[in-house]
Amino acid sequence: MLEKSVVNPIWACRAFPAFPVVLAVVSDGKGNSNVITIALVHMFSFNPPVLGIGVSPARHSYEMLEAANDFSINIPSMDLVEEVLYCGQHSGREVDKFEDCGFVPTPAKKIKSPVIAECPVNLECVKRQRIDAGDHVWYLGEVVNAEMAKDTDREKSLMYWSGDFRVPGDIVRKR
Ligand SMILES: Cc1cc2nc3c(=O)[nH]c(=O)nc-3n(C[C@H](O)[C@H](O)[C@H](O)COP(=O)(O)O)c2cc1C
Repeated sequence: MLEKSVVNPIWACRAFPAFPVVLAVVSDGKGNSNVITIALVHMFSFNPPVLGIGVSPARHSYEMLEAANDFSINIPSMDLVEEVLYCGQHSGREVDKFEDCGFVPTPAKKIKSPVIAECPVNLECVKRQRIDAGDHVWYLGEVVNAEMAKDTDREKSLMYWSGDFRVPGDIVRKR
């Protein structure tokens, strides 16, 4: 038997290996768009495809997401790790993250929020549900349009948890 002790539940959640990390973009509908780094991202439904992002009410993006009808989720590859960190350490209240990171805000096909051309995968999401989970609010969005670079390599997608950026590791078993 594994020997266990009771630990702080908040601390125990640090045991997760890592979560995917994405760049979410939301527009205020007046020509201003903001990028936020998000590790709280998950797939809530396969068909229809529904993705959720968890956003703290402290973020500038939260105010924008409350007002918006859509957002984009952009999957960065490992070569964008510095930009991902930058967008996770600076607020759109003070800086223009598109400009500072050299990202091109590209008009999306089916939503008002733009996508990030430099990310190999762009997912256009229409807000469907809002879940107040605690210190983060989850926005669930249906993916209404998706674009993907031909040479997208899932093994180079970034992951993050507890201070460490990673890429997926070894496959230990096929299902
Ligand atoms: C790797 C990483 C992951 C993050 N994940 C989240 C997240 O899932 N939800 C969230 O609200 N903030 C997250 N943050 C923090 C925000 O990205 C950060 O506070 C950002 O500056 C907010 O920008 P804004 O004020 O322009 O919205 C993360 C930061 C980093 C570096």
